[in-house]
Amino acid sequence: MTGRAIVTGGARGLGRGIAARLVREGWNVALVDIAAGVEATASELAATRPGAVVTGLIADVSDGSACDRAVSEAVGALGGLDGLVNDAGIGGPTTEVVDTDPAEFRRVLEVNLVGTFLMSRAAARVMVAAGTGGAIVNLGSMFGQVGGAGGAAYCASKGGVALLTHSLALELAPHAIRVNTIAPGNMATDMHFDDVRATAAARGTTFDEELERVRETVPLGRHGTPEDIAGAVAWLLSDGAAYVTGQTIGVNGGVVLT
Ligand SMILES: NC(=O)c1ccc[n+]([C@@H]2O[C@H](COP(=O)([O-])OP(=O)(O)OC[C@H]3O[C@@H](n4cnc5c(N)ncnc54)[C@H](O)[C@@H]3O)[C@@H](O)[C@H]2O)c1
Repeated sequence: MTGRAIVTGGARGLGRGIAARLVREGWNVALVDIAAGVEATASELAATRPGAVVTGLIADVSDGSACDRAVSEAVGALGGLDGLVNDAGIGGPTTEVVDTDPAEFRRVLEVNLVGTFLMSRAAARVMVAAGTGGAIVNLGSMFGQVGGAGGAAYCASKGGVALLTHSLALELAPHAIRVNTIAPGNMATDMHFDDVRATAAARGTTFDEELERVRETVPLGRHGTPEDIAGAVAWLLSDGAAYVTGQTIGVNGGVVLT
């Protein structure tokens, strides 16, 4: 299946890679991001396939009315909606729970978990009304599958995404709408590099030393790329995954197996 999809967090990183792959495979795509650069990303991706419709919309996914507006504008631009990829997310405070500011904890849940809920709600309403089925892919994390010391907010938000996925999959199955989570491992994006930089600063080591330390923990021996995630997302949106729903699929180089 190719069709019309919304990708949140599409301005850069994994979201941009996912959108680029979908455009290449024939989808028309609306990118939704809080960053103004989303419009430039949309123009760049539109130029990669003659006739592609790619639109960039600025919205904060933690804001319910902004999500409703963005979905409605996306549906207007694309002529309907077959897929939603909830990629927008932020890293959390790297403090231990006893030292964590509740406002910082809440903000992570608001963007990563409530944002996924709000966008899924708005998109599912459109898909259910159209009656033609669809697919939703949520970006979780390996840190939604295991906890991590000094990362409680992020882990809780991504664990929540995985279970939100299960509930949504059950509710939307009668409408032929599938819902799955991709749980990335250590991906070569700015979000991960910021985290590595913070670790290096805290330990008095270098960025390269910390990057190498992470790489050594990955059985496949390398960081993941946006294209690694995009391949899995494109498959979950496709008819090839027609019997897959409610799952959390790790795309992590084998890291949670160790
Ligand atoms: N990079 C990794 O190692 C990794 C690992 C596991 C999971 N993930 C998840 O994958 C997703 C993408 O990560 P990434 O590495 O590409 O991050 P990134 O920081 O490079 O990109 C995230 C994008 O989301 C957007 N965004 C942030 N807050 C938003 C909001 N409130 N509303 C709308 N857009 C918002 C940003 O502007 C940015 O374009 C995130 O959900 C992240 O938690 C990443």
